[in-house]
Amino acid sequence: MTQTRLPRHIAIIMDGNGRWAKQRRLPRHAGHKAGVDTVRRVIKLCGEQGIEVLTLFAFSSENWQRPEQEVSLLMDLFMTALQQEINNLHKNQIRLRIIGARDAFSKKLQQLIVEAEELTKHNIGTTLVIAANYGGQWDIVKAAKHLASLVEQGILESQQINETLFQQQLCLADLPPPDLFIRTSGEQRISNFLLWQLAYTEIYFTKTLWPDFDKETFMDALESFATRQRRFGRIDEQVEPENA
Ligand code: IPE
Ligand code: IPE
Ligand code: MG
Repeated sequence: MTQTRLPRHIAIIMDGNGRWAKQRRLPRHAGHKAGVDTVRRVIKLCGEQGIEVLTLFAFSSENWQRPEQEVSLLMDLFMTALQQEINNLHKNQIRLRIIGARDAFSKKLQQLIVEAEELTKHNIGTTLVIAANYGGQWDIVKAAKHLASLVEQGILESQQINETLFQQQLCLADLPPPDLFIRTSGEQRISNFLLWQLAYTEIYFTKTLWPDFDKETFMDALESFATRQRRFGRIDEQVEPENA
């Protein structure tokens, strides 16, 4: 049996919930609810495929600008999903991590996040990273501020700052960078998702709306990834033939 090359880390912008609902003349929240079912499905698929890390963009720093009612619904949905799914995630050895500015969340949600991360931290299955109130620019500024404060305190010299040190201050510093980035719904942009971390990620866009994203579309993305030659700046002849 041929073994295909698999991404270790998949990062997804889950987009198209609103349009999915609109197509069905349903309110937008029906799309978000259906989107949660897809999240469940994709976590399971990643487990089956042995994907080490799955990062999902759930709420961007810019999503606060949506109508208040939608924002509040998304927060409720996040909290309910976390409460309902955490035991199941734990049972399935999923290690959960939330990235983003969590101080904007209610105290109750912040508490739930801490508990969920604590409960699952020693699990050895897929690491599930949920980006909530996350922005790639926020991540980079946070890292820069931290390094600047170290310089201010005389702990670090500005000359010592390099890519490696900078990377170490970012969210996901301890995880392999995303190998495959997927965005659903046909939009072809990054929307302030992982900016630094996507430097050498293979990009895959699909027109499928997030609630419709299923095993077939997931496998299409994996197949596309398996055909890519990752050169990281080198030329074709320098790249080792895949030992898959
Ligand atoms: C993605 O779906 C979910 C979130 C951003 C929370 P959208 O809500 O962006 O769906 P569209 O883009 O309006 O279809
Ligand atoms: C990006 O989707 C954020 C999430 C999926 C959480 P958006 O639908 O908010 O992105 P834009 O505004 O169309 O770029
Ligand atoms: Mg959208």
